[in-house]
Amino acid sequence: MIFSLIKLTYTMNSNYLLSIFFLIFLSCATVSEQLPNSPEDYQVIPKPQSLKMQNGQFEIDKNTKISGSEQLVNEGVYLAEEISLVSGLSLGFDVDQSGDILLKLDPSIADEEGYSLSVETDKITITGKSPKGVFYGIQTLRQLLPPGINSTLKDQNIKVPAVTIVDAPRYTYRGMHLDVARHFFPVSFVKRYIDLLALHKMNTFHWHLTEDQGWRIEIKQYPKLTEVGAWRNGTIVGHYPGTGNDNKRYGGFYTQDDIREVVDYAAKRHITVIPEIELPGHSSAAIAAYPYLSCFPEERTGVPNDMMSEASKKAQADGQPKIVQESWGVYKDVYCVGKEETFTFIENVLDEVVELFPSTYIHIGGDECPKDYWERSPESQTRKAELRLADEHELQSYFIKRVEKYLNSKGKQIIGWDEILEGGLAPNATVMSWRGNTGGVAAATAGHKVVMSPNSHCYFDHYQSEDTENEPLAIGGFLPVEKVYSFDPVPAELADENRQYILGGQANLWTEYIDTEKQAEYMLLPRMTALSEALWTSKEQKDYEDFKGRLTSFRSRYDAMNLNYAKHVFEDN
Ligand code: ACM
Repeated sequence: MIFSLIKLTYTMNSNYLLSIFFLIFLSCATVSEQLPNSPEDYQVIPKPQSLKMQNGQFEIDKNTKISGSEQLVNEGVYLAEEISLVSGLSLGFDVDQSGDILLKLDPSIADEEGYSLSVETDKITITGKSPKGVFYGIQTLRQLLPPGINSTLKDQNIKVPAVTIVDAPRYTYRGMHLDVARHFFPVSFVKRYIDLLALHKMNTFHWHLTEDQGWRIEIKQYPKLTEVGAWRNGTIVGHYPGTGNDNKRYGGFYTQDDIREVVDYAAKRHITVIPEIELPGHSSAAIAAYPYLSCFPEERTGVPNDMMSEASKKAQADGQPKIVQESWGVYKDVYCVGKEETFTFIENVLDEVVELFPSTYIHIGGDECPKDYWERSPESQTRKAELRLADEHELQSYFIKRVEKYLNSKGKQIIGWDEILEGGLAPNATVMSWRGNTGGVAAATAGHKVVMSPNSHCYFDHYQSEDTENEPLAIGGFLPVEKVYSFDPVPAELADENRQYILGGQANLWTEYIDTEKQAEYMLLPRMTALSEALWTSKEQKDYEDFKGRLTSFRSRYDAMNLNYAKHVFEDN
């Protein structure tokens, strides 16, 4: 029975994808006719566990049939769409076992995300423990079509070199973060970002949705969060503290429909979206929308070094003290821990968030929360005294534990930056270790789950060259591809019995100095490609020189996808 014949609707987005994948497959076609001579000629990233070269090739043509079990319709349709989009071959997916490209489930595969891929001259078989494993097999198949030439593939057959691959990831958490608050990125870009994650077999997208400089998610009960909080009156010019203010109103937000669209798009690519709703710090935008959330609603928001926009100066002169922040950094005006209204607000916001995101985790931030306002605030001090807390760190811990309890009651778990260790870790919290390894080691030693994201190896807002004069403005630091590649999520100092708590790793793309899609791509690539191998491939199999060789081929895929990537790693030989 023909379960589903692919219908292509050429929206703007699919037109874009069409050209991307057309170019990829186009560039693959002729080269694939030169069959690989050795396993090294199969240029797959991240490197699979085992790859055995076979003789011959499989040819995909208009008579090729893709089929598999009913549980694999999503994956089959995805594969058929990709091939159809690029080749002009109109392939569909049938629910049966008769395909030349056959997708199968096999419960005996040990790893939940594991798969095998067999390309023979008359048949391609992708077998996964789960649909996710099958999806990763499809990603590997995409990469077996080697890049490299200029000829038209339209209406041509696609040749795939024969091979047997057995594969599974090293870590279960393989994440990328995107800060859409310092600068806003539209749904179309977020989807492309997710496509890139999928190509790299990453499985988690951490969406940083709220910040001092902008609130980006529609919350129906609090319309001012996006009417007011999503827009700032200007942005500092240049590196912090800036040379002035551009005085341009800037902002944007995602409607709840947008959010659902992204979550659904990611789910089809086996990517979990974890939203981050920052608390108690980094909350200036929410406070600008609802000043009662501050311990001092009448106190004016300050912009460092007097870099405030003219519009905000006027607003303050006219009696509106709070503004959405226009500079970068860490701010003292945070959610007031002493007020019950704060928790009512947060719980109401989270009620909508948990409905939108099926992920088990909700990221609650927790980083960089100065305690100055709480020290000065009578309600916060009363709270501290009533609870017999020793200091403001314990007040923060109270804040986080209270939010954890609420989210646990909704069936969710919290994950937070490593500052949530200060004052006592919430009982069920997972820690995202960003200030080096220390927080991660402490949390894992205490039996908490950990995602490693140390700023030494995982901060993709850092420079890619030491010659910073000749680089686009970045926050600082120096993080070349080789260092990302060397990232090992399990810290050497962690005791063996606690290594089980390290779920994996994640890199972060903070966007203070990333204000265009092209710049985001530049900061992401090829570092994310290196990260994907650091998180997927076993330590024993990792080899930087070998990776660099494969990256040189992979680069042609960046070109085919019209991606803007940093070229230093290709120039230093
Ligand atoms: C962070 O970079 N403040 C988590």
